[in-house]
Amino acid sequence: MSRSNRLPLSEIHTIQLDQSDPEPLYRQLYRAVREAILLGRFPPGIRLPSSRAFARELNLSRNTVVNAYDQLTDEGFLERRHGSGSYITETIPDRYLRAQPKQAEDKPKPKSEDTGLSQRGRRLATQIDTPRSEKLLPFMPGLPDLAQIPLERWSRLVSKHWRDVKPDMLGYGNVGGLPQLRKAVAEYLKACRAVTCHADQVIITAGAQQGLDLACRLLLDEGDTAWLETPGYHGAQGAMISAGIQPVRVPMDREGIDLAAGKKLAPKPRLIYVTPSHQYPTGITMSLARRLDLLANAETWGSYILEDDYDSEFRYDGRPLASLQGLDTAGRVIYVGTFSKVLFPALRLGYLVVPDNLIDAFLAGRCYLDRQAPSITQAALAEFIESGWFLSHVRRMRHAYAHRYRVMNELVKNVLSPWLSADPTPAGMHLTAYAKGPLDDQAVHQEAKKRKLLLRPLTDYYPDRKGPSGFVLGYAGFDETQLRRAAAETAALLEHAGSVSEQ
Ligand SMILES: Cc1ncc(COP(=O)(O)O)c(C=O)c1O
Repeated sequence: MSRSNRLPLSEIHTIQLDQSDPEPLYRQLYRAVREAILLGRFPPGIRLPSSRAFARELNLSRNTVVNAYDQLTDEGFLERRHGSGSYITETIPDRYLRAQPKQAEDKPKPKSEDTGLSQRGRRLATQIDTPRSEKLLPFMPGLPDLAQIPLERWSRLVSKHWRDVKPDMLGYGNVGGLPQLRKAVAEYLKACRAVTCHADQVIITAGAQQGLDLACRLLLDEGDTAWLETPGYHGAQGAMISAGIQPVRVPMDREGIDLAAGKKLAPKPRLIYVTPSHQYPTGITMSLARRLDLLANAETWGSYILEDDYDSEFRYDGRPLASLQGLDTAGRVIYVGTFSKVLFPALRLGYLVVPDNLIDAFLAGRCYLDRQAPSITQAALAEFIESGWFLSHVRRMRHAYAHRYRVMNELVKNVLSPWLSADPTPAGMHLTAYAKGPLDDQAVHQEAKKRKLLLRPLTDYYPDRKGPSGFVLGYAGFDETQLRRAAAETAALLEHAGSVSEQ
């Protein structure tokens, strides 16, 4: 096509803009012309009408067209020739031309073998089926009562810290976290969790998940052995797979992770992940004897223990149990905590407490994740803790959840007892109920979603979903009325599942 060719005005009328669309008209025009170029409808080398003529034809303001032309010129789709107008660039590579612009929903789902993923990427993408987003339905596990968060107070604090912000809070901050927050967390952990630490050992992370990820990256090499409790937390499994290793799944007994079984499966692991206060998901509390045995073994083997203390604030039969970290005299425990349960998950703040000799390495590693947590949120949280609001919120929630725990137990005993049973585990935010007879918990889970219930199958927590059938019933996020209604719905569902399996 010769350079003198002009785009016929009739072509311009193929462009349709929507005045009611919130997207500015110049952006719509820019996208429409860009698409016409990529599809070959506006061929390379052709001259576009002047912005004035274009605007007149489509009844637009000239500015709209000038802005769209400017954007197309900046991106290299158009070139301006002095005194002669705007031309479609001739040098757009052929492979971009006539390629249909992809709509997000049209994108083919790549098969795992043609994605070019690393082996570890493929394992991560296919082995664990963690929900990407979830509706807040009863009985979602691990969900705090979001209606009880002191939002007024929290938003006032955040606004105050933004209002009074100094320039040094807007630059790159301390990778380990805001000093006030590290100090507040250290004080809290010493007083309430018997963690032995000073503020420099505290590293603020984006939730417990980032802490698990950082620890696994720094402590594991491909081919190393790491133990994971079974049933166990998929977040820890994901962190281990991301670090390039396949965790060894170690069963539980009544006292906690079964060390004898672990030793037989894979002796002298480099890393051992445990949830001693309230095992996830069984709710077992690790006995003192098992804690001491675990610590002694870790010292002999040179292993690190990753203690995930995710919901330990909530204990309903006496005082909270001391942490495993507080018993450690050999610097083998890395303690992981989160504000997702005591405040709310979207806060995305958690922390690690690392032994002194690992502080520098963990700070270095933290730089290469997202570098640091958001400064203003950290400042607001530090004040929230220092002012005593945090502890009073925890106390209030402990009281509320203790009641919900009793209700949930009673519902399993009285409403769900034909199908399920649960051992009393007076702590945390969920109760694990086991099927009394044959029951396909995955199928029931699918049915439950249709009835706006979240019945997390117990088999999800076992490798290849091969394990006892049951459900992990989160109760903390729902009031008594919601719990009772959801239990009645669940009973109807299980009744139906039972009659179907008998047919
Ligand atoms: C065992 C366990 N650890 C940690 C967490 C908290 O994760 P995060 O702080 O990343 O929200 C959860 C949340 O469900 C959990 O179940």
